[in-house]
Amino acid sequence: MHYLPTRVIFGEKAVRKAFVYLNPIGSKALLVTGKNSAKASGALDDVLNVLSTLKIEYHIFDKVTENPVLETILKGAEVFKQSSCNFLIGIGGGSPIDAAKAISLAAANNLDYEHIYDTAAFKQSYPLVAVPTTAGTGTEVTQYSVLTDAKTLKKAGFGHDLAFPALALVDPQYTLSLSGDTTLNTAIDALSHLLEGIYSNKRMLLIYPLIYKGIALIYSNLRRVLNNPSDLQGRTALMQASLYGGIAISHTSTTLQHSIGYPLTSCFNVPHGLANGIVMKQMMDLYYPYVSIELDDMFTYLGISKNDFYNWLDSFEMKFAGSLTVDFIDAKIPEVLASRNMANNPFTASADDIRNLYLSLNQHP
Ligand SMILES: [Fe+2]
Repeated sequence: MHYLPTRVIFGEKAVRKAFVYLNPIGSKALLVTGKNSAKASGALDDVLNVLSTLKIEYHIFDKVTENPVLETILKGAEVFKQSSCNFLIGIGGGSPIDAAKAISLAAANNLDYEHIYDTAAFKQSYPLVAVPTTAGTGTEVTQYSVLTDAKTLKKAGFGHDLAFPALALVDPQYTLSLSGDTTLNTAIDALSHLLEGIYSNKRMLLIYPLIYKGIALIYSNLRRVLNNPSDLQGRTALMQASLYGGIAISHTSTTLQHSIGYPLTSCFNVPHGLANGIVMKQMMDLYYPYVSIELDDMFTYLGISKNDFYNWLDSFEMKFAGSLTVDFIDAKIPEVLASRNMANNPFTASADDIRNLYLSLNQHP
C-alpha cells in the first residue's frame, strides 16, 4: 500500500512558494531548530520573512541537539503549550525535524517521559511544516522520529501516520553551507535509505524507479559536490535523492542496516550517516543472497558492477575510528535484535551476524 500525505514543494525558493499553503495551517508556530544550521543555511530567515508577511505569530525553540533526547521533547511540548502554538515548523537536519514530530505528538496527547514512544497513545497531532537543511534524512516525507533516551543511551525510533509532516519545503540552496563531512555523511544516510527500500521485506515495485534514480543521483553527484561544495546542480541532485530515500523508507521502513548503527551513534558519537556507511558493504553482502535480482537490476541501471560500487564506496574512506570490545558487542546484540526494524529483514539475523558485523569494524586496513 502506498501512502504519502505530505505536500512537497521542491526547488529554489520553496519556502516562498509555500505562501498559499502556510496560511490555513495555523496562526502561531513553534519553530523547532538546533543552534546553527537553521540560521547558517538561510532557512530561518526565509521562514521568518514569510511568517511576517502572513502575520503568523511564532515562538522559537532552538534547544534541539544532534540525536535529540527525550527531555528536549518534553521541554518543547511544554513550551508549545505555554506559548499557545497551534502548529510547528521544524528547520534543520534530521534532529530538529524528528524532534518537532515528537513534540507535536507529546503536546497533542499529553505524553510523559515513559510514553513518548507509545504509539497506542497517539490520538492526534499538530500540523508540522518540515524545512530540511541537509540532504540525507528524508524525514520531511516520513512518519518516523528517531530519539535518544539519555538515561539508557538507547537510540530508537517510532513511526506513526500522525507524524507525517503536512508540508515539506525542500530547497537545495540550504545545503550549500554544509561542511564536506556533513555532506558525505548525510548523502550516505540517503543512500542507505534507498538501499533499504530494496532490502526491506516490505519492498514494493512501484517505488523502485525512485530508488534506482536516487542511487544513481548520489553515485554520479556525491564526489562532484565534495570537490565543489557550491555546485548547486549537484546539491539539487543530492537533495532529490534524499527526498526519494525518505519516500522509500516511508513505505518500507529501515532495516538491520539502521539498527546496527544506532549504538555506534549513541555510545561513540559516530554521525548517523557515517554509522550506516561503515557497515554498508558488509550489509550488502548479508542481504545480497535474498535480493540479488533487485540489486543486480539496480547495478544494471547504474551501468556498473557490484564491485565497482564497492570501490566507489571505498573511495570515501569511511572508517570507525574506535574499537569495539567484546563486552560492548555482547551488551548491544540484544538491543539490535529487539529493534523495531528487525521485522523488516528478508532473513532472520542471528546474534552471530551482528557480532561479525561489529567485529568487522575493528579491522583497520
Ligand atoms: Fe537514516
